[in-house]
Amino acid sequence: KKGPKPTVIWLHFMECTGCTESLLRASHPPIGRLVLDIINLEYHETLMPAAGKQAEEVLHQTMEKYKGKYICVVEGAVSTKDGGIYCKIAGKPAIQILKDVAKDAMLVIAIGTCASFGGVQAAAPNPTGAVGVKDVIGVDKLINVPGCPPNPYNFLATVSYILTFGKLPELDKLRRPKFAYGRLIHDHCERRAHFDEGRFAEKFGDEGHRKGYCLYKLGCKGPVTYANCPVIRFCDVGTWPVGSGHPCIGCTEPNFWDEMSPFYKS
Ligand code: SF4
Ligand code: SF4
Ligand code: F3S
Repeated sequence: KKGPKPTVIWLHFMECTGCTESLLRASHPPIGRLVLDIINLEYHETLMPAAGKQAEEVLHQTMEKYKGKYICVVEGAVSTKDGGIYCKIAGKPAIQILKDVAKDAMLVIAIGTCASFGGVQAAAPNPTGAVGVKDVIGVDKLINVPGCPPNPYNFLATVSYILTFGKLPELDKLRRPKFAYGRLIHDHCERRAHFDEGRFAEKFGDEGHRKGYCLYKLGCKGPVTYANCPVIRFCDVGTWPVGSGHPCIGCTEPNFWDEMSPFYKS
């Protein structure tokens, strides 16, 4: 559908920038095309040339000019403890920035598990009171695209769906698009036949591991993790963690740092 390019304000809070790094490696469309032709990316601290006062001005001008019409993308968790002082940008706590920017956004997309559920910052004992976006602004206009990092195509497909159909894709109870997070890793894993037949890698590097047997006994969390990694794979190289011999650690699920550990068993 042809129309004005949607304006995007991309906020970085407590995170590693891995989600942006992952998106930079997409090639359908490549990031250049996305940023120059498909969306109007007004504010993104990693990609924009402006810094400091200039960048702040862009943020405020964009919020004003596109009030009620822009998409806010959030990468990273939000500190809530002690008034949110553990993450500040331009002297302002991230929690306040998020409230201000989200208020007039038509849609908020939390990219990555940090923004969706708190991520590594929220792991026990969570010293900064880190939370996901939903705990600050609620879920009304929120879509979560979790993963650490998420597959860039799940983010791009979410944006494309909204631009094409003018509505949100169907979401699960955690606000994740069902087209990407509707099935368990375990349900479409190429090692599943080995699981069903009881053929397991017992140790990293053993014969079963080298033969591509199931990684369940090494700690694989594929049976409790919803994501399309085995189907969509990563970075156009045709593989994904389990395909490369590494157990799934459940990175698309809430609190995976606490609830999916120990990651390895051997
Ligand atoms: Fe980094 Fe993972 Fe957080 Fe993305 S979700 S910012 S990759 S720690
Ligand atoms: Fe399931 Fe993991 Fe085994 Fe694949 S490797 S079949 S996801 S337990
Ligand atoms: Fe994450 Fe498991 Fe996919 S660790 S990248 S959900 S295979």
